[in-house]
Amino acid sequence: MKKNILVTGGTGFIGSHTSVELIEAGYNVLIADDLSNSDISVVDKIEQITGIRPTFVKVDLSNAELTHRLFEQEQIDAVIHFAAKIYVDESVRQPLLYYKNNLCGLLNILQEMKNFGIKNLVFSSSCTVYGVADQLPVTEQTPIKPATCPYGNTKQISEEILHDMTLSSPLKAVILRYFNPIGAHSSALIGEVPKGVPQHLLPYITQTAMGIRECLQVFGNDYQTKDGTCLRDYIHVVDLAKSHVAALSYLFDNQDNNLFDVFNIGTGEPYSVLDVINAFESVTGLKINYKMATRRPGDVEKIWANPTKAQQILNWKAQHTLSQMVESAWKWQQYFSNQNKKP
Ligand code: WQD
Repeated sequence: MKKNILVTGGTGFIGSHTSVELIEAGYNVLIADDLSNSDISVVDKIEQITGIRPTFVKVDLSNAELTHRLFEQEQIDAVIHFAAKIYVDESVRQPLLYYKNNLCGLLNILQEMKNFGIKNLVFSSSCTVYGVADQLPVTEQTPIKPATCPYGNTKQISEEILHDMTLSSPLKAVILRYFNPIGAHSSALIGEVPKGVPQHLLPYITQTAMGIRECLQVFGNDYQTKDGTCLRDYIHVVDLAKSHVAALSYLFDNQDNNLFDVFNIGTGEPYSVLDVINAFESVTGLKINYKMATRRPGDVEKIWANPTKAQQILNWKAQHTLSQMVESAWKWQQYFSNQNKKP
């Protein structure tokens, strides 16, 4: 009997890739999304890739009544909770929107899981909880630092809420702390769709290569790194998606009623901004027009994961190289631009 997985935020960048991997791993997928930062056509693309159409429900999870109805209408064995607002700068400008949406959404999900006796939750967290890390690479024991923005704070508070819930109820929770997800599915049918001007590096690079953006600004080349630009742990979104399938198996196989576990989901390999630009140029043969600019407020100089714990306990390891990541992102940009060409 196939298990039913509720994927909140399942039409988003990471949620859609995870829905594909879940279906291909033999799960039934129910996507709940408010479509505030994604498009319903993603459901068609998931069906095109897998041959199976996930169930879809449009819902605002910060609304308790609507969330209750969602759980009433479907039999759910586990929840993977992606649904959240994710933009650092937007969260600084609109903290109430972020605390309401991200925290009320989680609280409503947890209330309904309690009401319906659903015990298994995978939560989408972020390496931003480490702030300026005391040690590199970061392990899951690296101290959490005070959040530098409301977005990061919602992730930290959510982790604390989940920990408390596992101590006082049958809830089992696995927290995945993502590093920098980039790239796209090999079909180029799904990928990252930035809202407005891309905040993240690779979508800005691919839009510059496509001629949508004039010039990429490299935010700072005076950091204490090999080439002066920031270091990050970039991870292929498909590798990241697969870590959720591994986390689900871990949950279903683990009978410990108070399971609460945290995993860094990264490659363990740091790359600089210039490394990413150079990789993109060598893979595509295109030159990226970029210039050095001042540092971006809020950026940490360097962070990358020690991914050993996920490798040992989840039996999961990132497989894709940086070249494969940037190549898949470029293929996606070409497909997306072609699909959205002005008539
Ligand atoms: C990467 C590097 C920039 C754009 C983000 C989220 C974080 C987490 C991971 C969810 C930095 C530089 C970028 C540009 C640049 N997501 N850059 N020019 O900030 O490391 O993390 O994704 O949890 O919350 O903030 O990713 O891609 O924005 O930046 O030079 O036009 O690229 O300064 O050094 P970031 P990013």
